[in-house]
Amino acid sequence: MTTLSVPGPAELLEIARMLAREGAELARRRREEGVELAARKSSITDVVTAADREVEEHIRARLAELRPEDGFYGEEGDPSTSVDGLNWVVDPIDGTVNYLYGIPHSAVSVAVAEGDPATQPASMRVLAGVVVNLFTGEEWAACLGGGATHNGEALAVEAAPSLAESLVGTGYSYDAAERREQARVWAELSEYTRDVRRMGAAALDLTAVACGRLDVYYERGLKPWDLAAGSLIAREAGAVVKGLGEEREGAGMLLAGHPDVLAEFEPRLAAALG
Ligand code: IPD
Ligand code: CA
Ligand code: CA
Repeated sequence: MTTLSVPGPAELLEIARMLAREGAELARRRREEGVELAARKSSITDVVTAADREVEEHIRARLAELRPEDGFYGEEGDPSTSVDGLNWVVDPIDGTVNYLYGIPHSAVSVAVAEGDPATQPASMRVLAGVVVNLFTGEEWAACLGGGATHNGEALAVEAAPSLAESLVGTGYSYDAAERREQARVWAELSEYTRDVRRMGAAALDLTAVACGRLDVYYERGLKPWDLAAGSLIAREAGAVVKGLGEEREGAGMLLAGHPDVLAEFEPRLAAALG
């Protein structure tokens, strides 16, 4: 078997961009035709539509042709092993509940990383990532060391003057008991901020930090497919993306924002978490 060469981040970015656009177009078309609920996952509120599965299958099949030696790790199917050390990390529809309700805030998120996101998410080094809002076609993209863009325009995160003048976003778990605890923390934090948002798509929350639509975003319980592309885009735009303290971002916690604002926010979050 001939081994394919491993392309650099810029070349991987173009593959990610093509696949995210194709996925977004497919999901948009399916939404116009009518949403079909396919299953419930972790709880009654955690839904998957036929389009989630179809978009993931489409991206997976395209990668099998284009990059047969790379692994695949998507939300809806079983992971496949990488031969060359690269893994594609895909959320076929992030913001599925928005998609179901027709709230135009859902995205396809495609990233490619070194390391194994399935067994060692903390080892993941994302090389390229693209997030496309499937309703609007808005696109955020980044490759490692190459900066981030929004519809082709370069991004640079600016600091809000203070936490009191910061718009802070978060997300909630599908588990009702966890959500209750998240809401308690959220209520405590809201007192220190300009205002708060829960928009319903983690990948778009991270791109919102990258393009100045949120000053801070934090969430507990994210999966690699929720955060892979968006965290690279936010970082390449100049944001800090991290976990609590010295921790790396992951299921335990993800915080994103300009370093000056995060320095004020993180102690408040830690205190609220108790
Ligand atoms: C969810 C969304 C939501 C976040 C949840 C995610 P899904 O992803 O990103 O905003 O709060 O943690 O699971 O289920 O819509 O792909
Ligand atoms: Ca998701
Ligand atoms: Ca999803």
